[in-house]
Amino acid sequence: MNAPKFSDLNPPSRILLGPGPGMTHPRVMRALTAPTLGHLDPELLKIYAEEQDLLRYLFQTKNEWTFALSGTGTSGMEAALTNLIEPGDDVLSCIHGYFGARLAEIAERQGAQVDRIEKPLGQIFSVDEIESALKKKKYKLITIVHAETSTGAEQLHIKEISAAAHQQGALIVLDAVTSLGGIPVKIDEWDIDIAYSGSQKNLGAPSGLAPITAGPRAKGVIEKRAKPVSSFYLDLKQYANYWGNAHGYHHTASASLHFGLREGLRVIAEEGQENAFARYRANAEILWRGLEAMGVPPFIPIEYRLPPLTTAKVPKGCDPHKVRARLLNEYNIEIAAGFGALKDEVWRIGLMGYSSRRENITLFLAALQELL
Ligand SMILES: Cc1ncc(COP(=O)(O)O)c(C=O)c1O
Repeated sequence: MNAPKFSDLNPPSRILLGPGPGMTHPRVMRALTAPTLGHLDPELLKIYAEEQDLLRYLFQTKNEWTFALSGTGTSGMEAALTNLIEPGDDVLSCIHGYFGARLAEIAERQGAQVDRIEKPLGQIFSVDEIESALKKKKYKLITIVHAETSTGAEQLHIKEISAAAHQQGALIVLDAVTSLGGIPVKIDEWDIDIAYSGSQKNLGAPSGLAPITAGPRAKGVIEKRAKPVSSFYLDLKQYANYWGNAHGYHHTASASLHFGLREGLRVIAEEGQENAFARYRANAEILWRGLEAMGVPPFIPIEYRLPPLTTAKVPKGCDPHKVRARLLNEYNIEIAAGFGALKDEVWRIGLMGYSSRRENITLFLAALQELL
């Protein structure tokens, strides 16, 4: 058999202002090229220990079970649910966008009986709405997305929602894929049982790792399971055995990706996460003002609008997909279309991680102005 035709690797250096990945921080790029280490090399294990402490800092938790899974954000979703759910368990899925619906589907695939409560795209839940749904049945757990990347809405009141779940004896799984590193995520203060994220959003790294943290209640449930977790790969007990003192082999984790993630986390810790949140907010406000001035107002009310991800209303008569394609082809800027029913209604503009810089916003606003 002849070798296939191949070309040189020469991807363009895009300005990534979509819903993720954000741009990789230059320090992370350098870290990614460090020499490969074996997955049990003592030097890699030292890196893991630091990475865990940095993740605990970002998640604001003391949880022992805090790791980065080998996989994208979806592996975090699957790990949370496959470890907690056993067939027949009752799950309440609170859905205010696409990723909330994905959690419900994953729970169903684990054999759970899933009840869904839904908000129209662009809205969030009140605590009362979730409290009254929780009173209808004894649920094992509830799922909810903190930062809905499909709409740009921040689900507020997570602490109160968590308290309501626990009041009824249910656990809470929180999707923090687009929130971690971009807005405060307070796992211990909010008493969250499992939360996970993705390396490619606000952490300055490429995709491929999913930070996850599990608290004592979740750990207790997992340890008392009647049957082993159906996924060998996503079994959190096996992760704990690999990341903990035993360092037992589980799978061949990518040292390079961990070098990159740890560097991204170090960048955030050096800036201080509160300062990073303030920078995201200030940059997002510049973007919002610029969009408003151009007749492309943000879609989500200011009270729960996410700094890392803005949805902006497409002006009447404008083809959003043509504009998006021209931004990419002529200005090298990536943004995204809306999701589902919002496909032709909004653009999604991300200011995640290393993408959240003044020069990117100025360039994007100028480019959009020219195209409109
Ligand atoms: C809120 C949310 N959850 C989960 C995911 C899934 O992550 P991934 O695409 O990295 O698998 C995403 C991805 O955009 C997301 O935005």
